Order: sequence, then C-alpha cells, then structure tokens
Amino acid sequence: MNVLLINGTIIGSKTKTLLSEISNHLNHSLVDTKVEQLYLEDYDIQFADARSKEEYNEDTKELINIVEKADAYVIATPIFQGSIPGVLKNLFDLLSPKAMRYKPVAVVANGGTHQHHLVIENQLKPILDYFKCLVTPNYVYTHDSHFSYMNELIDEDAKQRIYELVRVFRHYVDMSQDILDGDHLKG
Ligand SMILES: Cc1cc2nc3c(=O)[nH]c(=O)nc-3n(C[C@H](O)[C@H](O)[C@H](O)COP(=O)(O)O)c2cc1C
Repeated sequence: MNVLLINGTIIGSKTKTLLSEISNHLNHSLVDTKVEQLYLEDYDIQFADARSKEEYNEDTKELINIVEKADAYVIATPIFQGSIPGVLKNLFDLLSPKAMRYKPVAVVANGGTHQHHLVIENQLKPILDYFKCLVTPNYVYTHDSHFSYMNELIDEDAKQRIYELVRVFRHYVDMSQDILDGDHLKG
C-alpha cells in the first residue's frame, strides 16, 4: 500500500506544512503502508496535450507513473485566482481517467480568503468525482492566519480537523481495498 501526498503547487510552503502534519499521523496509524510526499516543483512538467505518455519528457513520464501507481492520495492545494493552481489541473489532465478509480482521496487546502473553501466543493471535488475517486466527506481548509510567520501550523482547531481527516481517510483506504479487490473492470 502506497499513499501519495501530492503538493499541488510549485511555490509556497503552507501546503507542505499541512502534508507533513498528515504524514506524521499516517505513519503512526497505518501499518504496511509507504507514505510518500510528491512535490511538483521537483519535476520539469510539460503541458498535457493528448500525446501518448511515451512522448513526454522523462520527468513528466515519471510523474505520471508515480501518481498512477499510488493506491491512495492526499492532495494539498493553495487557492489561486478563485481556483486550483494550473500545475495541479495539468497533472490531472496528464492522467488516465481510470488511474484513480475507486482510490481514496483526502484534500487539504489553504487560502487567503475564508470563503474560498468553496473552491474545493465546486472545482476540485467535481474533478475527483470524474475520476471516480473515493473522496472523504471531510476536508481541511486553512487560512493564512492559521500559520505562524515561519509557516508553522498554529491553529489548534485546524490541527484537530487534520487529525479527524486522517481518521476518516484510514477507513476509506480499507474500503478502497475491498472495492478494488472485486473490481472486474481493472486495468
Ligand atoms: C497568484 C495567487 C492567487 C491567489 N488567489 C487567491 C484566491 O483567489 N483566493 C484565496 O483564498 N487565496 C488566494 N491566494 C492566496 C494563497 O492561496 C495563499 O497565500 C497561499 O495559500 C499561502 O501559502 P504560501 O505562503 O505557502 O504560498 C493567491 C495567491 C497567489 C500567489
């Protein structure tokens, strides 16, 4: 079992802080599970343009392979211009529509505007629904003010919501395994 924590941006560090919190909880609570963090800034990613996977550069191919092979995901995203960053949407566009089917996904996001948690509801969740992911009913949206000037998460309520997200996500991981074991459409 391989849980991939995807940082859906190439700038900033608050989403990395959120993923580190998640990673700590997951490492304590999931046995026989590899938890890996994926930073998109580490890859020279090409734009998805419908060419075959083999025709992309090595970094883009590697990125697609890592994401498609993972069994479960935590996706972290900042809010940019009332939406998700283009680099994260581009990652989704690079994937096979079957790549994340019935796989569990938990979402954490950060923004400078309180109301922009709706970006998760109205924009990110519909994409994950298209992929037929098992998206947890809860997600964590933090505001810039929940962090110290060193970008440490200091808001106790946000920390508690992350703990609760991981608790639910663990059940979705189990549920996904049960569903995938019986998935006759696999492949
Ligand atoms: C180009 C850009 C656009 C942004 N647009 C929004 C926005 O529409 N809504 C919002 O809540 N925050 C917006 N923000 C604020 C970022 O979401 C927020 O500052 C970021 O998550 C902070 O994380 P960081 O310090 O790790 O970069 C924007 C930031 C940038 C750089």
